[in-house]
Amino acid sequence: MTTPSDATPLESALTALRAGQLVGMPTETVYGLAADATLDLAVARVYAAKGRPELNPLIAHVHTVDAARPLVEWTPTAERLATAFWPGPLTLVLQRSATCPVSRLASAGLDSLALRVPSHPLALRLLAAFGAPLVAPSANRSGRISPTEARHVHEELGRSVEVVLDGGPCEVGLESTVIDLSGSTPTLLRPGGLPRAAIEALVGPLASAGAADRARPHAPGLAESHYAPGLPVRLNATHPQGREALLAFGDVDVTGFAHVSWLARPDEPEPLLRAAARLFGALRACDDPRFDRIAVSPLPEDGLGEALNDRLRRAAAERPEKRP
Ligand code: TXA
Ligand code: MG
Repeated sequence: MTTPSDATPLESALTALRAGQLVGMPTETVYGLAADATLDLAVARVYAAKGRPELNPLIAHVHTVDAARPLVEWTPTAERLATAFWPGPLTLVLQRSATCPVSRLASAGLDSLALRVPSHPLALRLLAAFGAPLVAPSANRSGRISPTEARHVHEELGRSVEVVLDGGPCEVGLESTVIDLSGSTPTLLRPGGLPRAAIEALVGPLASAGAADRARPHAPGLAESHYAPGLPVRLNATHPQGREALLAFGDVDVTGFAHVSWLARPDEPEPLLRAAARLFGALRACDDPRFDRIAVSPLPEDGLGEALNDRLRRAAAERPEKRP
C-alpha cells in the first residue's frame, strides 16, 4: 500500500495539483506558485494565497512549444522566439484561442494569455507528468520579493502551499522577460532574465509599454511599488548614510556600511549574470530591522542590467502603506 509518506515529492506535487491545491515549483527564474490552469477554483486559490489583485493575470506554463500552440492564436513571431528561447526565461503574450482550456480567471478578463516553457528540469518533469498547463506566478505574497530558494516559498506562503519541490537556488534569479505579441508590434511588458538585445536581434526593435499602460490591466505587472522589502531602499549609493546594509556591485568602496551583501564582487566574471541570480536572496538577507535602510551600489543598464535596475527601482519606489 502507498501511504502519502511513501510518495516522492514529485508524486505528492502531482496529487496536490490534481486536487486543485497549490505547489511550489522551482523554475530557472524564480520559484512559482503552481496550480492547475484549467481549474477556476485552483486559479482562484493562487490569487487568494498571494493576496493578488485579481486584475493581474497569470502565466500559463507548459512543457513544450507543441503544448503552447493550441492555447493561443500562434504567430510566426511567436514561432521564431519560442524556437530560439524556449525552454527559457521568456514569456509570450498572445490572443487566447477559441478552444483555450485555461481558466478565464488566469487571463484576468483579458482576451490574451501569457505562456512560458521554463527550463528547470524539475519544472519540466512536473509539467510533462501533469499533462496540462500550470499557472505559476512568482511564489511570493503580492508586492513582495520573489523567492529564489525553496525555503523562501515556505516563508512567504506557509500553509497555503501544499508541497514545495526543492530544485535548489534559481539559476537566473530574475523573472522572465514578458513580450506582448497580441498587437501589431512586439512590445516589452517586463524586462527580465532574457536581455532585450537577444530578442531584438531576432524580431527587431521592441516597443516599450508606456506610462499609459501602467495604469491599465494590460500590463499590470508594471505597478510601481513591487518587489518591496520591509526596509526602505536607497539606489546609487556610494557612501553610507546611517546604519545601512549594502547590496554591493563591482569595484566599490564598502567602508562604513553595517552589512555588505555582494551582488558581484570586483573580480568576478559575468557580474550582471551573478547579480541577477543573487538579487532577491540578497534583498531578503539585508531586509533586517537591525538596519535603517538597504543601500544599493550603482549598476550598469546594459544586458541584464535593464531588468536588475527595473526590479531595484520598484523595490525603492514609494509605497502607500508602511509594512510591518
Ligand atoms: O519567471 C517568471 O515569469 C515567473 C516564473 C514562476 O515563471 N513567473 C512570474 O509570474 O513572474 P508573475 O505572475 O509574478 O508575473 C507575470 C507577469 C505580470 O507582470 C503580469 O502582469 C504579466 O506577466 N502578464 C500575465 N499575463 C498577461 C497578459 N495576458 N497580458 C499582459 N501581461 C500579462
Ligand atoms: Mg511576481
